[in-house]
Amino acid sequence: MSIEVVVPLGERSYPVVVASGGYAHLGRRLSALGLPRRLFLVTETNVGPLWASAVREVLTAAGFDIIVVTLPAGEVSKTTETWTRCVDALLDAGIDRRTPVVALGGGVLGDVAGFAAATVLRGVPFVQLPTTLLAMVDASVGGKTGVNHPSGKNLVGAFHQPVLVYAALGTLATLPAAERIAGLGEVVKTALIGDRDLLARIEEQAEALREGDVSALAPVIARCVEIKAAVVGRDERESGWRAVLNAGHTLGHAWEAASGFGVLRHGEAVALGLLAETRWAVRRGYCQDPELPRRLAELLHRLGLPTEPPTLPRDRLLGAMRVDKKARGDILLVPVAVRAGQAVLAELPVQDLIELLPEPR
Ligand SMILES: NC(=O)c1ccc[n+]([C@@H]2O[C@H](COP(=O)([O-])OP(=O)(O)OC[C@H]3O[C@@H](n4cnc5c(N)ncnc54)[C@H](O)[C@@H]3O)[C@@H](O)[C@H]2O)c1
Repeated sequence: MSIEVVVPLGERSYPVVVASGGYAHLGRRLSALGLPRRLFLVTETNVGPLWASAVREVLTAAGFDIIVVTLPAGEVSKTTETWTRCVDALLDAGIDRRTPVVALGGGVLGDVAGFAAATVLRGVPFVQLPTTLLAMVDASVGGKTGVNHPSGKNLVGAFHQPVLVYAALGTLATLPAAERIAGLGEVVKTALIGDRDLLARIEEQAEALREGDVSALAPVIARCVEIKAAVVGRDERESGWRAVLNAGHTLGHAWEAASGFGVLRHGEAVALGLLAETRWAVRRGYCQDPELPRRLAELLHRLGLPTEPPTLPRDRLLGAMRVDKKARGDILLVPVAVRAGQAVLAELPVQDLIELLPEPR
């Protein structure tokens, strides 16, 4: 069974297929795009050994000629060096402008391979095969690609929309539980900003979702993709409303960067950010539901997500927030929930950033 959502971007619209099993229909879907028969399958050292042969098998059967490129795994590898390595491999193997790059992996691999696809020969067709929950609900959809920089997260990158996203839920079977749970951080974010019924559904099914029950996950993933697709369709390049997807990220990114990339998982950092930013939104009168932080904390706890941030020097956190890409001059846009399922972009002057930080204990 599969659910399909379209990201509405005019002639660059593309389908996101959420397939409950494996890659059985991938060959047909790729063939339908009319792409050349030679393609690059870019993967990473953890996912490649688990899933590349399944992808290779179905694509070979569909008549594709596949060159596999394997990059190092993990957030610490989301660097300009890994991007260069990917571009080198594509050029060395004679990529041309129509040859698709197919990214098989989580958000890190998708972001790096996508940035390579965006930049090599000024852009080649790009396909995402997300293998983590986080990448399925968020990172693979919307065309943001890039790498980290020592000054901050995702500071080097490009917009480059895929032509197809194919999420095979079967791949979640090998995903470590802690990674699956971290992905629930972005799921909660999406519900909090976009759909109160989804939030209620997550509360009802928290244990099943935490355990990775595919029948509970499939409709939740599809709904998250729908919400993200609608936001991206309205504001592809983040000139305004798309910033709402950064809920939890102002503080989340700061905790991630200040604790050293790879220490805190991205989804965990987002969960912590959501909680702290919602508390701030209540204090400042943006959020009209004073019960929301408590409700959120309880849900995060039930899902197995952290609710207590790491203790880090305040000046380091403030520094990390200042280089946030979402800063417009001296104003930072901080998306916060007005109530469950509805968000607003709060404008926070950079000099008031300290207000966002949780009270020291
Ligand atoms: N582009 C966007 O719009 C966007 C949105 C949200 C997040 N992101 C980015 O996504 C990244 C986080 O993505 P992530 O959480 O998927 O991390 P990840 O890609 O590092 O994957 C997490 C871990 O799971 C492993 N893994 C992946 N799939 C697996 C599978 N099926 N079986 C076994 N192991 C598997 C990976 O090797 C890695 O060790 C961050 O860098 C974040 O900035 C991007």
